Amino acid sequence: MTERTSLKNISRLINDSHLPSNITEKLICDLLKITPEKLFLDKDKIKLSADNLKKFKQIEKEVLSGIPIQYVLGKCSFHDREFTANDSVLIPRPETEKIIEIATRFIESRITNYLPAAASRQRMQAGELRINTGFNILDIGTGSGNIIISIIKDCSGNPIIHNSKFVIQPFASDISPKALQIAKQNARFHNVENKIKFLKSDLFSNPKLPKKFDLIIANLPYLSPEETKKLPFEPALALNGGKDGLELIAKLIENLPEKLSKNGQAILEIGYKQKNSIIKMATKKNLKTKVLKDLGGYDRYAIFSIDK
Ligand SMILES: C[S@@+](CC[C@H](N)C(=O)[O-])C[C@H]1O[C@@H](n2cnc3c(N)ncnc32)[C@H](O)[C@@H]1O
Repeated sequence: MTERTSLKNISRLINDSHLPSNITEKLICDLLKITPEKLFLDKDKIKLSADNLKKFKQIEKEVLSGIPIQYVLGKCSFHDREFTANDSVLIPRPETEKIIEIATRFIESRITNYLPAAASRQRMQAGELRINTGFNILDIGTGSGNIIISIIKDCSGNPIIHNSKFVIQPFASDISPKALQIAKQNARFHNVENKIKFLKSDLFSNPKLPKKFDLIIANLPYLSPEETKKLPFEPALALNGGKDGLELIAKLIENLPEKLSKNGQAILEIGYKQKNSIIKMATKKNLKTKVLKDLGGYDRYAIFSIDK
């Protein structure tokens, strides 16, 4: 066997690659469009064509230079779905996934509040009862659109929310036109482009946004300028939250009493050292705050409502 042919053999390629084997395997699956299970079963049989080998070497070079694999491949995974990603958007992080669960539970609770009796809930699940009220959601700093798209997809798969015909009107905004382009592309890919209104906006500045929202979600930049420098491949606009990472969050909190509807809620992802400062800011604005931890045990999600 010549060196060239031996390199085409997948098992040899995994051994010879300078990347960790799990990353090499992911790249091979992506190149050959096969599942990890197929690769596991057939890695001694499958061979890479010369063309694919060339592509693999190029990708390997880029990953070894430090470029995040998601940017090299142009896609990432979030909440079990695939999203396009490039260097105009933040690579969605696993800790952000919990926001989808918090938001969906809130929407569900709003619906069941309308119909507290178990019998009514059963009728609603069967599609016999429908709620005719609007519910505005705004995802600020939508980036790749990962949060709002996941919420809308999960809501349509949730029998209580789906069958209630609760009219959800989702808005997604970003200050970056390039990020909005990616978000729209992802919405198209997930068949929700006609459901979500995407708008360029600096926080709430776009006059086309409704005056009030029932649910506001924001994973705004929350790193300090020094922390931002440690992530050179992702857009600073998505990471740098100004002094102590808190400048944009402070502006957002300032606006919440005016922008939240009476029983509305705002869910923010925050830096793990920001809890106390954020509670102080929110209390000054008469907002009730609850902080939840991520899976690593860090304070990560601030939930605000209007203190009545
Ligand atoms: C941390 S990223 C979050 C991206 C995505 N929502 C996620 O969770 O993966 C923050 C996003 O906020 C946007 N952004 C920064 N400043 C903003 C502002 N003043 N108003 C609206 N969006 C802003 C950035 O362009 C970026 O897409």
